[in-house]
Amino acid sequence: MVKKNIFDAPFVKEMREATANMYRLGWDERNGGNISYMLGEEEVGEYLDLSEVIRTIPTGFDVTPLIGKIFIVTGTGKYFKNVDKDPETNLGIVRIAKDGTTAELLWGYKDGGKFTSEFPAHMMSHMARLSVDPTHRIVMHSHPTYTIAMNTVCSTDEKEFTHKLWQSNTEAVVVFPDGVGVLPCMVCGTNEIGIATAEKMKHFRLVVWTNHGIYGTGRTMDEAFGLIETVEKTAQIYMLSLGHIVNVIPDQIISDLAKLWNLTPLEGILKV
Ligand code: 13P
Ligand code: ZN
Repeated sequence: MVKKNIFDAPFVKEMREATANMYRLGWDERNGGNISYMLGEEEVGEYLDLSEVIRTIPTGFDVTPLIGKIFIVTGTGKYFKNVDKDPETNLGIVRIAKDGTTAELLWGYKDGGKFTSEFPAHMMSHMARLSVDPTHRIVMHSHPTYTIAMNTVCSTDEKEFTHKLWQSNTEAVVVFPDGVGVLPCMVCGTNEIGIATAEKMKHFRLVVWTNHGIYGTGRTMDEAFGLIETVEKTAQIYMLSLGHIVNVIPDQIISDLAKLWNLTPLEGILKV
């Protein structure tokens, strides 16, 4: 069967659009940020011969539960700014090999590159989210300015952090009633931060890396993007009002908003 042009694939288009939007929003300076998107074998098979492996790349950790799964992933050191104009260099499509510790490159990383240094956090987060939501597909990491600024003035207590967000914007509890997980400042790009992130991902779709950035997950690119976008917008409101706060959204209103949308807010935050 003749394969379709990979540059026309909807998943490549989604990666180009998401990275371009994130760059334009100022969330992803230089090579900051990374995205991984789990793809179906059938959808990739329309564009690529799945028996043709360009090269293999060791993962450096055990990915056994994801054997055979295919992901399109941003490359390490690559600038989000450049993905749209050269997707084949800045993105790659990899399949987790049968040994569970190797990735098979099916397309991309044309200059000899490899997937993001945050591959452990991405793959471990995929495993954690899939265990609670089989329709999960996307892990998105970003460095949005106001979210990181909030870390310098707020405690790393995730309930306190979530409460501050819910109190600052009525959309916050509606978009993330499950709250935001928060990790303390840690060394990034390691298996350790991957394990800690995945632990949070069993309970949260959003995880903040203190003084570094945020992870958002979802079934679609829009869902993951929209979660980060709403946290960042809310963090901006919080930071702009810091030092002048005279009026926050009362807990009763936050609770009523959740009720209106049939949502259950994370327990232990609201005093109602
Ligand atoms: P990569 O260039 O390896 O994706 O790293 C960027 C980043 O955001 C590290 O946390
Ligand atoms: Zn980062």
